[in-house]
Amino acid sequence: MTTNSSPALSKYIAQSGYCSRRQATEFIKAGQVMINGIKVTTPFTPVQAKDVVMVEKNQITQAKKVYILFNKPKNLVCTLADEKGRKTVSDVFIPFFEERLYPIGRLDRSTTGLLIMTNDGNLTQKLSHPKYEVKKTYQVTSELNITKSTLDTLLAGVPLEDGFMKVDEAFYPTDSKKIATVVIHSGKNHIVRRLFETLGHPDIKLDRSEYAGLTKKGLKTGEWRLLTPQEIDNLSDQEEKSIEKPKRPRNLRAKKFYARLQ
Ligand code: URA
Repeated sequence: MTTNSSPALSKYIAQSGYCSRRQATEFIKAGQVMINGIKVTTPFTPVQAKDVVMVEKNQITQAKKVYILFNKPKNLVCTLADEKGRKTVSDVFIPFFEERLYPIGRLDRSTTGLLIMTNDGNLTQKLSHPKYEVKKTYQVTSELNITKSTLDTLLAGVPLEDGFMKVDEAFYPTDSKKIATVVIHSGKNHIVRRLFETLGHPDIKLDRSEYAGLTKKGLKTGEWRLLTPQEIDNLSDQEEKSIEKPKRPRNLRAKKFYARLQ
C-alpha cells in the first residue's frame, strides 16, 4: 500500500521533478525504471525512503520542492534580480524558506494577483511553455468605459507587434462597464496591457484572479499559502493542448488595423 511516506513509484519520480507523473508512468511501463537494481513495471509500487530509484539509468533524488500560491501586491518585480535594486517577489520568501523560490511566469510590477512561486525548474519550464495553454483570468479596470465592441474585438483578435492575439473569453463580471474579465492563455510579456492599450485603454489596473484553475479564495493581497499535494499533481499533470499556430503576416494586418483606429 502506498502512503505519504511510501509514495507510489510514479508519484515519487514526478515529485523529484524528473518528469510529470504521466511520463513517469510511461517510463515505468516501458521497463526503464529500477528500484534497488530490479526492474519494476508497476507504477503503484510503493517506494521506501532507503530505496534507490533509477530512471533511464539516472538516479532520482528527492530535493525538497516548495510550491506556493502568492497573491502578489503592487510594487514587487518578477525579475530574478532587479537592476534598479527594487524588491522582487523572491525576496518576500527569503525569511520563510531556505530554498530560493522563483515565480512561474511574470506579472508586471503594478499588476496584482496570483503567482506560483517554486524551486521546481521542471514545472516552471512546463507551465511556461505555450503548448500547455495554461489559462489565466484577469480583472481589468479602466477609467474609461470598456465597450462591448472592445470585448468583441478582443475575442476576434488584435494584431500586435509580435503577432495576432485573441483572448479566450471577455465579459463584464458586474454591471460596471469600467471592469472587464479576460481569460487568456498567452504568457507573453505585458500582453493584457498591450491589448487594452491598442484598443484605447492606455492606463488599466490589472489583477490576476485565476491561474491554471487556482483561485484567490482565502488569500488577501500580499498573502500566500502552500499548494496542496492534489493541486501540485493537477499542475504537473496539465496536458499539452496545442502548438501555437504560426501567426498571419503581422505587418500588413497590423497596418490595416491601426489605419482603422486613426
Ligand atoms: N499581462 C500584462 O499586461 N501584465 C501582466 O502583469 C500580466 C499579463
